[in-house]
Amino acid sequence: MQIKFSAEPAGDAVAYLAYEGDKGVEFASALDKPAEAAIRRAIAAGPFKGGAGQVIEILAPEWSDASRVMIAGVGKKAAISELGWQKAAAGLVKRLLVSGAKSLSIVGAPDRGVAANLAFGARLAAYRFDQYRLTLKAEKKPTLASVSVVTDSAAGARSDYAPLSAKAEGIELARNLVSEPPNVLHPESYADRIEGLSELGLEIEVLDVAAMTKLGMGSLVGVGQGSVRGSRLVVMKWMGGKDKKAAPVALVGKGVTFDTGGISLKPGPGMQDMKGDMGGSAAVVGAMMALAKRKAKANVVGLVGLVENMPDGNAQRPGDIVRAAAGKTIEIQNTDAEGRLVLCDVLWYAQKKFNPKAMVDLATLTGAIIVSLGNEYAGVFSNSDDLVAKLSAAGKAEGEPVWRLPLGPGYDKQIDSEVADMRNIGNAGNAGSITAAQFLQRFIDDGRVWAHLDIAGTAWKPGNDNPLEPTWATGWGVRILDRLIADNYED
Ligand code: BES
Ligand code: MN
Ligand code: ZN
Repeated sequence: MQIKFSAEPAGDAVAYLAYEGDKGVEFASALDKPAEAAIRRAIAAGPFKGGAGQVIEILAPEWSDASRVMIAGVGKKAAISELGWQKAAAGLVKRLLVSGAKSLSIVGAPDRGVAANLAFGARLAAYRFDQYRLTLKAEKKPTLASVSVVTDSAAGARSDYAPLSAKAEGIELARNLVSEPPNVLHPESYADRIEGLSELGLEIEVLDVAAMTKLGMGSLVGVGQGSVRGSRLVVMKWMGGKDKKAAPVALVGKGVTFDTGGISLKPGPGMQDMKGDMGGSAAVVGAMMALAKRKAKANVVGLVGLVENMPDGNAQRPGDIVRAAAGKTIEIQNTDAEGRLVLCDVLWYAQKKFNPKAMVDLATLTGAIIVSLGNEYAGVFSNSDDLVAKLSAAGKAEGEPVWRLPLGPGYDKQIDSEVADMRNIGNAGNAGSITAAQFLQRFIDDGRVWAHLDIAGTAWKPGNDNPLEPTWATGWGVRILDRLIADNYED
């Protein structure tokens, strides 16, 4: 999608933004007299009040050069957030994407910041993952190729849009990674793709199985041992802060490129969704891309553990005891509780290598979080009220909300083992997302500021109707992470 800012509307579709006013619909910008009269008539014919998401579409009006004139409600003037503007533009794009219209102009941005947010929303809504649909019928192919936001401060809007464009690229990358099929995106090819980001100025380091074994990462390596693909740990460094030696923020992601469950095999129906079990890592990779593209003035390191969880003659078994790099032993009671086994070694490495001032991990960790929170909120678990407050604010502003769940010794004891330092599951059907988080917390150094986001319900959303997101892979996490850094950790 081509995004432009211009002084005058031009395009085969022109959309006028409208507010929900006390005395009826108000237009966000002045309209021509004949146009206004015709539009008022169209409004009077239906339930349109200017509410957020409401749209009227008028085809081929003789009083306009455009073949479509649209009125897009944005809600009450005083209450419109950045997200509200983004959604308004996104709703228009979703409606026009395969309509035949090739270009859209959006009229009524009150200032350059709103213009930039309209552009951002339009861009996100235009996303599709179509590269494997080789014989898609012409009528199902997108026609809309450009969106132009009308503003009298185009230069200002362009510069406000630059960091949003960087963020959009990160989100698009995360969506692509989650959508890629697991025969194409596996630990080795994934690591290669991340290495390609070095051209943005990110410093990339890849640890293979031999390197991880040498470091004692028996937990991560154990998960991948049933796969013909070698596991990888990839580190991405962006040292954009004033003091390049200052402690960074660490972002850690679960990157299980396919989760069959291993020997504790998952049931067949729906298993294809487990190609998205690397959604936490995709959020980290996408966020690192966004930070590099917008040259964030912060030190941030991203670490992702990439493995494929397969059943095989060499796969790990329930009953195996592995030794994590932190020097703790784990009794594997269910090979399907593999995400925590990957993360514990990556979390150890992140702390040992970087001594981060704050550490956030993201993982599609438990089905139980979907039982608790559905596809609306991600779960957050943390030892820091302050970090939770920062994440909550960032998530709210970005439309990626999080809800805190508790940690505590009563839950922790569920993962004690009779034969090892801990086991990798709690009691069946009992606070599964919390016991998973307790497992991770056993690998967090005393005093380390840490939060864990369980994104199993938000990394992909079947039948998603949020216009800013596609139906499946959302790219969840890039937005909250980018804002967490922007609002709290930049010089
Ligand atoms: N990747 C899954 C969690 C998951 C489930 C993500 C559904 C997205 C949708 C994870 O590895 C897993 O299998 N967890 C088990 C843990 C259990 C064995 C303790 C689960 O949630 O059932
Ligand atoms: Mn699993
Ligand atoms: Zn998993």
